[in-house]
Amino acid sequence: MAESRVAVALVVAAGRGERLGYGGPKALVSVAGRPMLDWSVAALREVTAVKEIIVALPPDRLDAAPAGVVAVAGGVTRSESVRAALVAASDADVVIVHDAARALATPALFAAAVSELAGGNADAVIAAAPVSDTIKQVHRDGRAVERTLDRSRLWAVQTPQVFRRAALERALSAPPELISAATDDAWLVERQGGTVAVLPAPTENFKITTALDLRLAELLLLERGGR
Ligand code: CTP
Ligand code: MG
Repeated sequence: MAESRVAVALVVAAGRGERLGYGGPKALVSVAGRPMLDWSVAALREVTAVKEIIVALPPDRLDAAPAGVVAVAGGVTRSESVRAALVAASDADVVIVHDAARALATPALFAAAVSELAGGNADAVIAAAPVSDTIKQVHRDGRAVERTLDRSRLWAVQTPQVFRRAALERALSAPPELISAATDDAWLVERQGGTVAVLPAPTENFKITTALDLRLAELLLLERGGR
């Protein structure tokens, strides 16, 4: 399956980048010499299974789409941007969803997620890394610890998230309040009783959220020598 072009890739890049604080869309900030978004698009171009790349951008920045991708206006929330991109995608049984903010995702990681989906029965395969910190649940109204979670079963979820198209379409037809609340699309699939499996991914596939993340990404991408 991974040998033929079975997948469309949706890259969401329409966020405001408020936590990074650059005063412009985060996905268009330069990292190691090119816009953050372009790193993911370049990686996806090297994946044999990918036949089309759709990018969701801020509505006033459709001009920032790299050559050869389909550009669409993103939505107010992340999942709305995913939905806008999916609507514009051509026929394909497999949909790869990826955050432009994860500029370090490699072609091998995308390819592994697609193969894993093809080789199993899950509705979605999502990149994730086991957490290294101990995680405690704290009371909503203060700092009192309620309980310590079993770390051995906790995974920090990333993108790419790869879906069977029908499952993603069903998930994204959820009511607007659920779409807005979703921080990842796999949750919407889980809610509908779909099966989601994790794919162990390198912690290097972190999301660029803050200025510190941006500095680290810059160093690592320069070290790769432009891939
Ligand atoms: N995203 C999007 N449309 C939105 C919100 C987010 O396409 N309405 C994308 C972002 O561009 C990013 C990914 O979803 O690639 C993950 O979101 P996040 O890291 O939160 O990025 P921002 O929303 O841009 O950052 P912030 O929350 O700090 O404003
Ligand atoms: Mg955000």
